[in-house]
Amino acid sequence: MKTEGIELDGLGPLRRSHRCGEIREDMVGQEVVLAGWVNRRRDHGGVIFVDLRDRFGVVQVVFKPEVAEAAHERAGLLRSEYVILVRGVLEHRSEETVNSNMESGRVEVNVQELRLLNAATPPPFSIEDDPGVDEAVRLKHRIHDLRRAPLQKVLEVRHHLAHSNRECLSELGFLEIETPMLARSTPEGARDFLVPARLQPGSFYALPQSPQIMKQLFMIAGCDRYFQIARCFRDEDQRADRQLEFTQVDLEMSFVGVEDILEVLEEVTTRGCREAAGVELERPFPRMSYAEAMARYGCDRPDTRILLELTDLTDVFTESEFKAFRGNVDAGGIVKCLHVPDAKQLSRGDVDRLDSLVRKELGAKGLAWIRVDDDGTWRSPIVKFLSDAERGAIADRTGAAPGSLIFFQADAADRANAILSRLRIDLGERLGRSDGRAWDALLVVDFPLFEKDDKGQLTYVHQPFVAPVEEDIPLLESAPEKVRGTHYDVVVNGVELGSGSLRNHRSDVQRKILEVMGYDAAQAEASFGFLLEALEIGAPPHGGFAFGFDRWVMVLTGAESLRDAIAFPKTQRGQDLLMEAPSEVEPDQLDELSIRLRPLPPRESA
Ligand code: AMO
Ligand code: AMP
Repeated sequence: MKTEGIELDGLGPLRRSHRCGEIREDMVGQEVVLAGWVNRRRDHGGVIFVDLRDRFGVVQVVFKPEVAEAAHERAGLLRSEYVILVRGVLEHRSEETVNSNMESGRVEVNVQELRLLNAATPPPFSIEDDPGVDEAVRLKHRIHDLRRAPLQKVLEVRHHLAHSNRECLSELGFLEIETPMLARSTPEGARDFLVPARLQPGSFYALPQSPQIMKQLFMIAGCDRYFQIARCFRDEDQRADRQLEFTQVDLEMSFVGVEDILEVLEEVTTRGCREAAGVELERPFPRMSYAEAMARYGCDRPDTRILLELTDLTDVFTESEFKAFRGNVDAGGIVKCLHVPDAKQLSRGDVDRLDSLVRKELGAKGLAWIRVDDDGTWRSPIVKFLSDAERGAIADRTGAAPGSLIFFQADAADRANAILSRLRIDLGERLGRSDGRAWDALLVVDFPLFEKDDKGQLTYVHQPFVAPVEEDIPLLESAPEKVRGTHYDVVVNGVELGSGSLRNHRSDVQRKILEVMGYDAAQAEASFGFLLEALEIGAPPHGGFAFGFDRWVMVLTGAESLRDAIAFPKTQRGQDLLMEAPSEVEPDQLDELSIRLRPLPPRESA
C-alpha cells in the first residue's frame, strides 16, 4: 500500500520489547524493539537522528548508513508524526550529544531495522509541552493535542483517580450502581439539557444535572451505600471551572450523620490524591464554618494558604458622612476591606489598574484605598471624608501600619465579598503572601439552609433536598431564615472539590421546606411528587456527597482550566471544535421528532 507515494511496511512478526519510557542507561548493550511516533527528525552529515515518542517517553534513535544501509535510506522519508517501529542496539551517546532534559538522554538506539508503519499529514503544531498556539487551535486539533505529554499525564491522573475512588469506596462497602441518562426534568438549579422523546411526541427527557434524586431512591430501596462515577449535564454559562458535561464521583449512605460522611470523604480524598498524584494531605482536614469563610475570605471556598484577610467595617459606617459608604449601608449593603501589609511595591499605577479591573470585570462601583506612609500619614482619595472615630476603627481592626495598603468595597454583601476575595487571591499570588504549604484541604461546614433570592423569597442555598440540623426543624415554622443546613464542602487549594449534605428523609420536613421556598402543594407534587411519595414508603436517614471529578484532576495536575483536565472539552461557547458539535440535523430527523424550528437568529461565527 502507498500513502503519499510512500511504500508502507506491515507490522510483521516483530513486537515491542520495551516502551520508550522504560529505556534506562543500565540497559546499554541490549537489543531493543521500540515503536511510536516521530517526534522530530534531524540529519547530521549522513547520520539521521529521530526522537521516537510513545505514551511513556521519548528515546533518540540513530540511523547510520554504515550500520544499516536500507534502514538509513528509508529514514530519509520520515517526517513528524510518522508511525514507526525500530530494532537496534542500545548504546551510550557521545558526550557532546548527551541530553540531560530527557530520561533516556544518555543513551540512543543504533537502528538495524526500520518498519515504516504509517505516514502522517504535517501536524498543525509541534508535539511539545508548550506548543505555543492558541487554545482554539489545540481544541480543533485535539488528537494532536492529546499526544502532548501534559495531556497524556492528565489522562493518566484521571485513570488513577477513578481507580483509587472505585477501590476505596468498594472497600468501604459502597456498591457501584448506574442511573439513567434519559431522566426527568427536575428544578435542581441549572438549566436542563432536553432530549425529545420520539415515542411521546411533545415530551422530553432531561439529561441528569446529577443523580441526586436517583441516589436517594437507592437508599430508600435498601442499597445502604451507593457510588457512581457519573456524567452530569448542566446547560449553564461556561467558566474556567464549569463545563456543560462533567463527571462526579457521586455517593450516598444510609443511617449516618454528618461526621460519618466526613470521615468517608477524608478517606476518599486523601487516598485519591495520594494514589493519583503522590500528594499527601494532612488529616484531619481543618474545618471552617461558612460564616467564618465568608467573613475572613469573602468566599465559601477559601485558599487559606494566602495570608491576607478581609475585615468587616459595616457597623463603622452606619452614621458616616462619607456618602458612598453610608449609602450602601443604608441600602442593606456592607463595607469591608482587604488589608495588605508591606505593600510598598504596589505603585499608584498598580492600584489604578486594580481599580479598572474590578470596575470592568467585576462590576465594582469603585475601589477606595488608603496607603499608610512611612511616617504614619494616610494617603487616600477617601481620607478627607472619614471622621477620627472611623479612622481609629479602621486602624484598630486591620492593624494597619506603615507600608500598609487597604482596599475597600461598599456594596451588596455578595458583590463586595466576591470583589475583595478576587483581589485577595490576585494580590496574594502577585506579592507571594503564602504560608508556603503546597496543599490546603479544608472542610467548610454549617451552611445556612436558605438564602433570599432577588425578590426576597427564601430559596435553597444548595439544593432543595438538604436536611436541616435536627434541632432546627421547629424553626422551619417560626424563623425559617435561621435554620441551619447540614451541607458541607470539601475545598482543596481554593477549589470546591465537591459538596454534600444529609437529606430530608421525612416527607413532612421535605414538604415544609418546599413550602418555605414558595411551592404550594400542587407545585410540590408536580415537581417532586415521585420523591415525596418515595419518602413515605420507609425512607432511612441518609446523606451523601459528590466530588467534581474534573475539578479534582484540574487541581492535581495544576491545570488552569477544566478544559485542560478533560479529554474532549467544550469551549466557552459550548462547542466541541474537533467533532464540530453541536451541529444542524437533517429535516427528516426533526420531522420524526415532531419538531419544527423557528426562524433562527443569524449565527455568530465561532
Ligand atoms: P453540586 O451541584 O455542588 O452538588 O456538584 C458537586 C460538584 O460537582 C462539581 N461541578 C462541576 N464541575 C464541572 N462543571 C460544572 N458545571 C460543575 N458543576 C458542579 C463541583 C461541585 O462541587 N447532587 C449534589 C451533590 C450531593 O449533595 O450529593 C450536587 O450535584 O466540584
Ligand atoms: P467618589 O466619592 O465617588 O469620588 O469616591 C471616592 C473614592 O471612593 C474613589 O476612590 C472611588 O473609587 C471609591 N468608591 C466609590 N464608591 C465606592 C464603593 N461603593 N466601594 C468602594 N469604593 C468606592
